Amino acid sequence: MSGVLANRRAIVTGGAGGMGRAHALRLASLGADVAIIDIDLDVAQRWQEELTAPTVADEIRALGVRSIAIQADITDAAAADAAVAQVVREWSGLDILVNNAGGAVTPYDRSTATTTTDEDVRRVVDLNLIGTVNMCRAAAPHLTRPGGSVVNIATIGVDVEAGTGQLALYAAAKAAVVRYTRSLAVELGPEGIRANALSPGLIQTARIRALAASRPGAGGGDPAAGIPLRRVGDPDDVSKAVAFLAGDDAAYVTGENLRVGGGIHLV
Ligand SMILES: NC(=O)c1ccc[n+]([C@@H]2O[C@H](COP(=O)([O-])OP(=O)(O)OC[C@H]3O[C@@H](n4cnc5c(N)ncnc54)[C@H](O)[C@@H]3O)[C@@H](O)[C@H]2O)c1
Repeated sequence: MSGVLANRRAIVTGGAGGMGRAHALRLASLGADVAIIDIDLDVAQRWQEELTAPTVADEIRALGVRSIAIQADITDAAAADAAVAQVVREWSGLDILVNNAGGAVTPYDRSTATTTTDEDVRRVVDLNLIGTVNMCRAAAPHLTRPGGSVVNIATIGVDVEAGTGQLALYAAAKAAVVRYTRSLAVELGPEGIRANALSPGLIQTARIRALAASRPGAGGGDPAAGIPLRRVGDPDDVSKAVAFLAGDDAAYVTGENLRVGGGIHLV
């Protein structure tokens, strides 16, 4: 396989649907072997996301590279370790880790700084921060030295307020991911491993389209109107930036938080 990521071995968490699937396919189209680790390997079907093959792993293989699909919960450190170990065993190493699994998984209407429940705090921190930490710890000893690259997905919400203070703990957990990534970059930099965060803005995935269709009129107004580039993003907008950070074009970039949001954080 040719391409700028030829012979690289990548893991994408949450790669069975949504943006994670787009990242997996982008890396594969550039020549990387891609393993997806997801708690729900059938998530695409659940949100009527159209696949071009029976599974995302089949879609990846159709691009001429290898793929492994592993069902695992990244919030469970032992499960994260086992999933990484399986990839390393089968492919004799690892070059790229994209920590994409995450999300604002708790009810929006009780997500401000003072209304978030104990249970919601734990859920959102567990998935977005602890899951990322588990995967970084599991992968770090195996990443290629020099040349390994970690991309941790955060959110533009680190810099932009949602509504009237909603998604407070989601933003806080992702801010912690951005900060953790800087420490990771400092720790692993001397061994030639880079670590960057990437913060997507408003991105229209199949899940978000399906949710909008089930709640006509929800949200109100045109979300693109408040974005300098006057459109919401699509998963490929983010995937191109993931591929940049993962590959050698970003060889001297580490510890950054690349915002991919059409400039929404500027206004
Ligand atoms: N969609 C947006 O507009 C947007 C904006 C900013 C940031 N983000 C971030 O981008 C990433 C992807 O967002 P998305 O909208 O595609 O999300 P999504 O909910 O559509 O996909 C998340 C994926 O992670 C998997 N997953 C969930 N919990 C897991 C666990 N414990 N272990 C393993 N896999 C798990 C899911 O099955 C799913 O495949 C997330 O980190 C999210 O916070 C999304």
